[in-house]
Amino acid sequence: MREEKLQELLNSLSMTEKIGQLVQVPGPVLEAQGQELGIRDDLGISEEIIRNVGSTLNVVGADQIRRVQKAYLEKSRHKIPLLFMADIIYGFRTVFPIPLALGCTFDPKLLKELCAATSEESVAAGAQVTFSPMADLVRDARWGRCLESTGEDPYMNGRYAAAMVEGFQEGLQEERAGKGMASCVKHFAAYGAPEGGRDYNTVDMSERRLRQEYLPSYKAGVEAGCEMIMTSFNTVDGIPSTGNKWLMDDVLRKEWGFEGVVITDYAAIAELIAHGVAQDAKEAARLAMEAGVDIDMCTGCYANNLEALIREGAIDEAWLDRAVMRVLRLKNKLGLFEDPFRGADAAREKEVFLAPGHRALAREAAVKSMVLLENKEELLPLSGEDFRGGKKIALIGPFADNRDALGMWAIHGDKSAVVTVKQALSEMLAPESLACAEGCETLLEEDYTDLTAVYAQTGKSAWNPEKRKEEMERALALAAESDVAVLALGESEIQGGEGGSRTKLTIPGDQMDLLRRVRKCAKKVAVLLFCARPLVLDEVKELSDALLLVWYPGTEGGHAVCDVLFGSREPEGRLSMSFPRSVGQMPLYYNAFSTGRPYDGRTPIRFFSRYTDCANTPLYPYGYGLSYHRAAYGPVRLDSRTLNREGEITVSVEITNESGRAGVETAQLYIRDVTGSVVRPVKELKGVCKVFLEAGEKKTVSFRITEDMLRFYGKELRYESEPGKFRVTIAPDSSREPEEEFVLV
Ligand code: NOJ
Repeated sequence: MREEKLQELLNSLSMTEKIGQLVQVPGPVLEAQGQELGIRDDLGISEEIIRNVGSTLNVVGADQIRRVQKAYLEKSRHKIPLLFMADIIYGFRTVFPIPLALGCTFDPKLLKELCAATSEESVAAGAQVTFSPMADLVRDARWGRCLESTGEDPYMNGRYAAAMVEGFQEGLQEERAGKGMASCVKHFAAYGAPEGGRDYNTVDMSERRLRQEYLPSYKAGVEAGCEMIMTSFNTVDGIPSTGNKWLMDDVLRKEWGFEGVVITDYAAIAELIAHGVAQDAKEAARLAMEAGVDIDMCTGCYANNLEALIREGAIDEAWLDRAVMRVLRLKNKLGLFEDPFRGADAAREKEVFLAPGHRALAREAAVKSMVLLENKEELLPLSGEDFRGGKKIALIGPFADNRDALGMWAIHGDKSAVVTVKQALSEMLAPESLACAEGCETLLEEDYTDLTAVYAQTGKSAWNPEKRKEEMERALALAAESDVAVLALGESEIQGGEGGSRTKLTIPGDQMDLLRRVRKCAKKVAVLLFCARPLVLDEVKELSDALLLVWYPGTEGGHAVCDVLFGSREPEGRLSMSFPRSVGQMPLYYNAFSTGRPYDGRTPIRFFSRYTDCANTPLYPYGYGLSYHRAAYGPVRLDSRTLNREGEITVSVEITNESGRAGVETAQLYIRDVTGSVVRPVKELKGVCKVFLEAGEKKTVSFRITEDMLRFYGKELRYESEPGKFRVTIAPDSSREPEEEFVLV
């Protein structure tokens, strides 16, 4: 439909019909099934609005969407199709590793590919918009939603956000109906920085930090062309995002030129009342409208108050028209006026759900996101021949054969299709080479406040003391007879994700006890760690010969674990978040400021910025990961020590594969701005290069440095570089200090 036609359509709508376009309701309101992940009051909206609502969420499935759309259109005067949005976060039926794991791939192109595959499955199931990517920067592992972020680095997060938007939306512009889905970047802004790591809690930071570190990833999503933005639940400088005009209008629309649709997070307009910035739903609706929020997700605030606000002159009808027009434009872009059922096709679902190509991509992504944290005496890779020739593996732990290890947000995933570690090992080993035991439960009551309620809802129950004892003993007996005990341990899915904040970063339940006891009786111990966030692993590090971080690895997790365990692939992941020594270090991130009293880690004097009971450094730094090959980085070389504003310099390093095995190095460029008008981080990642090295091969890796890479928000909050000294390094992780110096003139 052409723009003039859309305008005519808008002009022909009654006030109620217009308001309806801005109201999003959950599935049950439209007699559809859809998961509701949030708390909301009864919407209390009129039948007339319900007949005219613009969109719904988490209603998926070709047949269901066709039925709901048809019933809706039959009752609609103007036949404006409903928009179907959904939380399709890291896969639809085929589930990929969680985003924090994907962040460890340092491979944005791979993320683009898997988002395109996700789009293919989702479009067949009738979804038109995905609430992804979550571009929130994370630095505090207590926050459960670290799992949905690609990590702690602004540069990488921006690259990933852009790649994901491009992947989801691939084909959207050219082909109209049937290809690609609109991507909604969330949660704008800074939702990843709640105080104390407690979900939905206060966020408060300087504008400089916000702009410098938190906003760039959302901006990268906008520049990549995302069609939608979701507000966050938190405050930004004292004002909740959903009513924050500065954020939504001045920054997002005016500075960044965003023309798409802004939607609230779940019930966030009503939450302006609980925050204490609005006295009632009417005031909340006015604040959100003033801020430039288009769609109200799952409250009655817009539905029940906009008309009165307009009549009273408290808001301008032109604002309403502008918001409605944005929604209509999105519907038009998706081709819904031509085909309201856009792509929803039950036959196509069968073809594309869990298609072999998608599974292969899931396996590839899982391999590339696993991080080898320890490998003492090169226990890994195990030799397939040894284990086919009589040696024995004891596979032990609650994640050995667990399909509930996809992470909280895989809500449309097909759990029955998940390949567990046990299943994958059984495919390659004879039964006499593999013994398996659960050993213990994942969680005990002391680990999770609401466990009893969860059990009551799910019909599960805790093991009784006899079973606990028996299972533990059975596991220990198997470990004692094995050549290698492979322990699959980790966090329960319910401990992470939305509302999944923790104060302890431990492996819960009896699992540590299991590990301690297995260590005593097994010859070798390899730990596979399933989790949604960085955990404190000091003891695990000591007790294990090999420690492989597999995160929640997705549908093909078991196969990918076998690929890595037996070395048909090497683990390629590098940490997307620092792993702490203690929960008390939170928030912990590599690109921190230097203090006035930086501590060198050695001087035994207390008056430095340090803890008296723990090192300042992480246990495993950002960017860290071992490989099966072994590489050495030579000294960093610069082709000039002076950088002119219009010019460039090249920094390079020679990397030598000193082992007899080929492998991939993830070379990381870090720069430190030594002196600025404001304090600068001790280092910042500015480039990454993955390089393949044959056994014994040497390669030179180079990066160009240009002035724009050195810009930041200085004293006057202008984004520009300042002349002076910089230090630079190319390193395998973030722990190396920038060594060579150059000057920007
Ligand atoms: C709340 C979450 O914060 C958000 O990420 C999600 O998209 C919405 N609920 C919709 O389910």
